[in-house]
Amino acid sequence: MLLVKTKEELQQKLGSFREFGTVGFVPTMGALHSGHLSLVEKAINENQVVVVSIFVNPTQFNDSKDLERYPRTLESDLKLLKSTGCQFVFAPGVNEIYPKPDRRIFNFGTLDSVMEGKHRSGHFNGVAQVVSRLFEIVKPDKAYFGLKDFQQLAIIKNLVVQLKLPVEIVSCPIIREESGLAMSSRNELLTTEERENAALISRTLFLAKNFVAEKSVEQLVHWVLKTINKNSFLTVEYFEVVDDTRLKPIKSWSEKNTKIGCIAVFCGKIRLIDNIILN
Ligand code: PAJ
Repeated sequence: MLLVKTKEELQQKLGSFREFGTVGFVPTMGALHSGHLSLVEKAINENQVVVVSIFVNPTQFNDSKDLERYPRTLESDLKLLKSTGCQFVFAPGVNEIYPKPDRRIFNFGTLDSVMEGKHRSGHFNGVAQVVSRLFEIVKPDKAYFGLKDFQQLAIIKNLVVQLKLPVEIVSCPIIREESGLAMSSRNELLTTEERENAALISRTLFLAKNFVAEKSVEQLVHWVLKTINKNSFLTVEYFEVVDDTRLKPIKSWSEKNTKIGCIAVFCGKIRLIDNIILN
């Protein structure tokens, strides 16, 4: 496994691999856990060469405290990646990705105006900036993203269409801790007690799925908010039921599209997200 810090070195070293087959790419912000590794393993199974990037992208943080607090664990990340058998780790500095400020403004229409887009202004524009830069540098055949960040995945698929990029976007299932809590780098910032209580988020989503036959969408939303907010460690920022392609709010279960329940919850100062297919 090769650790590379500059785009020139990556492009030069990767060049000789391209003729042997496809390049799989897994963009991350590090502090790796089994959720990330599941993406890397899928990429390894489906490609001849795999690049994992580790870059905490400042342009997607709209809260400077959140950026400061974000865990950075390069040494242990490298150990974990080595055990997967991936060939390249690309860990650039900020100047390498943004030699000058990126002023591009993307338009994702309604995909960006709900849920994370609504509550984290500018977040997806920053994600689009960095992912398009990374795609430009790595030029992958396939890129792997987790369904844990459901809205991000929808935005990336749209970005690839808008920019006409020749890359296939592969969706990967949510990996959970034993308690059901969706794995996240931010879980490391929770105290033991907070982490135990945060498991209520996924438990409630799993139960919500069983209630689809008995409750209207509005009643279900109300029940989820009430159940989680009752816990003194947790405060729901939003819970929305949306269709899985355009992310439009769903009013009735009889609507045709697949319906996803997406949630953001503060556990103390830490913001956690999760989602579930409802029907
Ligand atoms: P990060 O949060 O590090 O996540 C990197 C990738 O891992 C994303 O595609 C995310 O959806 C996936 N992932 C995280 N937790 C997961 C879990 N529990 N199960 C399955 N997949 C999981 O998402 C980002 O970084 C950034 O926004 C990035 C795309 C790298 C751009 O900066």
